[in-house]
Amino acid sequence: MQINSKSIKKHFEKSMDKYNENALVQADMANQLVQEVLKYRNNFDKILELGCGTGLLTEKVIEKITFKNYYANDIVEKSKNYISKILPNSEFIHGNAQRIKPPADIDLIISNAMFQWFVNLEPVITYYKNFLEKDGILAFSTFGLKNFYELKDISGLALNYLTSEDVKAILAKNFDILYCHEYTETLEFETPLALLAHMKNTGVNSLTSKTWTVKEVKSFCEKYMEKFEKTKLTYNPIIVIAKIK
Ligand SMILES: C[S@@+](CC[C@H](N)C(=O)[O-])C[C@H]1O[C@@H](n2cnc3c(N)ncnc32)[C@H](O)[C@@H]1O
Repeated sequence: MQINSKSIKKHFEKSMDKYNENALVQADMANQLVQEVLKYRNNFDKILELGCGTGLLTEKVIEKITFKNYYANDIVEKSKNYISKILPNSEFIHGNAQRIKPPADIDLIISNAMFQWFVNLEPVITYYKNFLEKDGILAFSTFGLKNFYELKDISGLALNYLTSEDVKAILAKNFDILYCHEYTETLEFETPLALLAHMKNTGVNSLTSKTWTVKEVKSFCEKYMEKFEKTKLTYNPIIVIAKIK
């Protein structure tokens, strides 16, 4: 499924104020990313974070990892306000991560819950390997095929999710995989409407470029109740740490 970047921007920008209190799975993924990086290194010169959003991962990185320079990117310009409060001496690089020109010789590229938005992961990986210095680390989390399967079942909406095997195969040419872990986590909600609100508050409603009508929301809720006994949403995170060959 193709998602246009205008829709991603619009929905993430709107979700920002409520994102941190709703992004429970993403917060846990950010913790795991940092913990796994720490097993290999805790000190870097230049860190580049892609799709930094409200700084959920940024906060965890600065708590545990030391560095000289921090570059934070997001397609949503408002993200800069959040990051500059967390890390005033960081440099914000606004724009689509597929097109920005980051500095050379980065030794850690890190990104949480963002790579799934790339329609095609391979060119992105090829692009960023050129900015990593020798022994540089690429640490990211994304989502696998079972992500939001309840939603796909009912509405047909889903990104082009990959399996962890697909991700490893894409990385294999240029990276040694140090760690790759895939798992599922399920959140429960009182009602399908609460589930939709959760998606809105985490920006994931950018899966659809248009706003649902009242009728469409009602139909989604009815179909959900018919199909599932409990209102739940399955997340399928994949955590990857790779070192350039
Ligand atoms: C689910 S949020 C994750 C935010 C943050 N990394 C975290 O750990 O909470 C995804 C973020 O990626 C950004 N994003 C999506 N596609 C992007 C792209 N192509 N380039 C840069 N940022 C992008 C969104 O604006 C949003 O802030």
